[in-house]
Amino acid sequence: MDLTDAVRERRSFRAFKADPVPLEVLKKIMEQALRAPSWANTQPWEFVVATGKPLEAIRETFLQRGEQEPQSEVARPSEFPEPYLSRIQAPGPGDFTPTKADLDRRRVQGIRNYGAPAMIYVLVDQTIFYQSKGINVWCMFDCGSIVQNIMLLATNYGLGTVAQAQSVIYPDIIRSGLDIPIEKLITIGIAIGYPDRDDPANQTRTGREPLDRMVTWRGFE
Ligand SMILES: Cc1cc2nc3c(=O)[nH]c(=O)nc-3n(C[C@H](O)[C@H](O)[C@H](O)COP(=O)(O)O)c2cc1C
Repeated sequence: MDLTDAVRERRSFRAFKADPVPLEVLKKIMEQALRAPSWANTQPWEFVVATGKPLEAIRETFLQRGEQEPQSEVARPSEFPEPYLSRIQAPGPGDFTPTKADLDRRRVQGIRNYGAPAMIYVLVDQTIFYQSKGINVWCMFDCGSIVQNIMLLATNYGLGTVAQAQSVIYPDIIRSGLDIPIEKLITIGIAIGYPDRDDPANQTRTGREPLDRMVTWRGFE
């Protein structure tokens, strides 16, 4: 697939077919994604890819945890000033005001990772994240570049993804379910699978600000 096609076609999928993703395909995606750039080539990322029984057990325990406050290890944003607030598009079909039942259903679907057959958890060692002068935000920047690699490569293999901050709100459950040491921060999960393109949850296409609002050109005159 042409790179520009992959960039255009990638979007967040929130409903997946039950078909498993072959291990060989996941290995190819992860191996190719590792070419991502990082600060001085520090490669501050590690991954746990989960499927099957361990992943199902994590989802069930997440559901049992109910509506407790997120305990994310990388702090979630607490404020969205304008213009960012106006740009937020809630995941879900169409333009409608969701009822409490809609929101509950959406939350449960999210916790179940939208039925994706596999999850890629992105880990960062505490020693590169917490530093004497504060949090090293650059390792998160690096993780963003490899996560985008993963999502674009997945598109190339006919797969769908969604990066999910929501999937790591109870890190202790993932840690014990997948035997992840305490030194490794669980930063985000990527749900991956073959998208169910007919599902209403996958009909939303998010918009973008126009080029002229986001980019200033100088010296081209
Ligand atoms: C860091 C990050 C965290 C995200 N967390 C979630 C999440 O918890 N749940 C979800 O449904 N989508 C999540 N998303 C997906 C965004 O909502 C989505 O990328 C955005 O709305 C743009 O839509 P698109 O990916 O379809 O282009 C996340 C994306 C990023 C980059």
